[in-house]
Amino acid sequence: MGKIQFPEGFIWGCATSSYQIEGGVHEDGRGETIWDRYCSIPGNVANGENGDVASDHFHRYREDVALMKRMGMKAYRFSIAWSRILPAGYGEVNEKGIQFYSNLIDELLAAGIEPYVTLYHWDLPQALQDRGGWTNPQMAEYFLEFGRICIDRFGDRVKKWITLNEPYCAAFLGYYEGRQAPGYHDFSAAVSAAYHMYVGHGLVVKYFRESGKGGEIGIALNLMGRLPFSEKPEDVEAAKRADGYLNRWFIEPIMLGKYPQDMIDFYTSQGVVLPKFQKEELELMSQPLDFIGLNYYNDFHVKYSEKVWPLQFVIENLPHSVVNDRNWPVTEMGFKRMMKRMKEEYGVGNIVVTENGTSFHDVVSGNYEVKDYARLDYLERHIRVLHETIEEGVNVSAYFVWSFYDNFEWSFGYNSRFGIVYVDFKTQERIVKESGHWYSQVIERNGLEV
Ligand code: BGC
Repeated sequence: MGKIQFPEGFIWGCATSSYQIEGGVHEDGRGETIWDRYCSIPGNVANGENGDVASDHFHRYREDVALMKRMGMKAYRFSIAWSRILPAGYGEVNEKGIQFYSNLIDELLAAGIEPYVTLYHWDLPQALQDRGGWTNPQMAEYFLEFGRICIDRFGDRVKKWITLNEPYCAAFLGYYEGRQAPGYHDFSAAVSAAYHMYVGHGLVVKYFRESGKGGEIGIALNLMGRLPFSEKPEDVEAAKRADGYLNRWFIEPIMLGKYPQDMIDFYTSQGVVLPKFQKEELELMSQPLDFIGLNYYNDFHVKYSEKVWPLQFVIENLPHSVVNDRNWPVTEMGFKRMMKRMKEEYGVGNIVVTENGTSFHDVVSGNYEVKDYARLDYLERHIRVLHETIEEGVNVSAYFVWSFYDNFEWSFGYNSRFGIVYVDFKTQERIVKESGHWYSQVIERNGLEV
């Protein structure tokens, strides 16, 4: 038996987000969010489900933290629901909302678990959507206001901050593909939303530095390989475009202070209306960060398709791919490729894997066990490759499994389970899955036995 040993001090944790786990949507003055609204529209979410109760974390956070502690977690990544702090999106602060997160943070610290706090994981206050949501340039200022309150009130205890989670999804799935809240179908609006998110990100980073609170700040991007389906030149071009759409449009403004010119030209040629890129705003969004969060799930293959406007490509799996219950292939070598690329192409000096995990249909056995070997295998492959990547000289300081427990998986409702802890949504009982027991051992050994 060999051993795979991670560097001393490597941080192992698990991640969640507010709307996906909290429930308690009408409690303690929380304002409505775009996800409450989106879920209420028939057809948007599988089985008409919503986050009203979710994993009931709002009421059970103490037990949840105790379980994390028993599992040996060193860190926990969660997000703050903007509408608990500012029910109208701006203006009056809801002290009860502050209290909830303050208690959670204290509970974590008492358990020896370091909080990694995401400011925006998609649950925008509906009141701000009513003002145009992220397409409104003023949103950057509203985000600053929210960020400032969180940094002021929690920054004495929270030392790791993430401004935005997957701005690609929030902008393009929300405003163009309509698969997420607010559910629009307007490509130009999506580009504009992504731009304003980045201006907001820049304002919050600037405030954080000026606040003198100390600690680290970064952003979580879902960067994943887009490979040509065949050698045909149109597929090769399509893959480059898909990479520009998902990856380069998001990493380049942050790391290089500019948007990719080939994509600007392409979008313009298709009649997409682009924001007026302002020099000062590009400078703001490219301020140095302490880490880049990588959310990695899988690579995809890309085929040219003239039917799709404006992107002209479709995503397709290679024949015989091993897939999860969402039809996502398992592609751990792509994980390594992306981390190397982040370092070599963009000069990222510190990567935090802010999410990695997979969804499988789980079965609870008669003696209350969940033998999720497929998920365990997925995690093991990715953690082994992560180790190789570190050995090859890429600096990665932390790894977070998505997710701590089963939760409201956006438009898939409760059917898609990513947890390493099983949640029985009828009773709210938690059962640590086989993958969870295995992950605890990884943390304890700071590595793997192979
Ligand atoms: C998101 C999570 C989500 C996960 C699995 C990521 O894109 O950040 O909120 O649950 O993927 O779909």
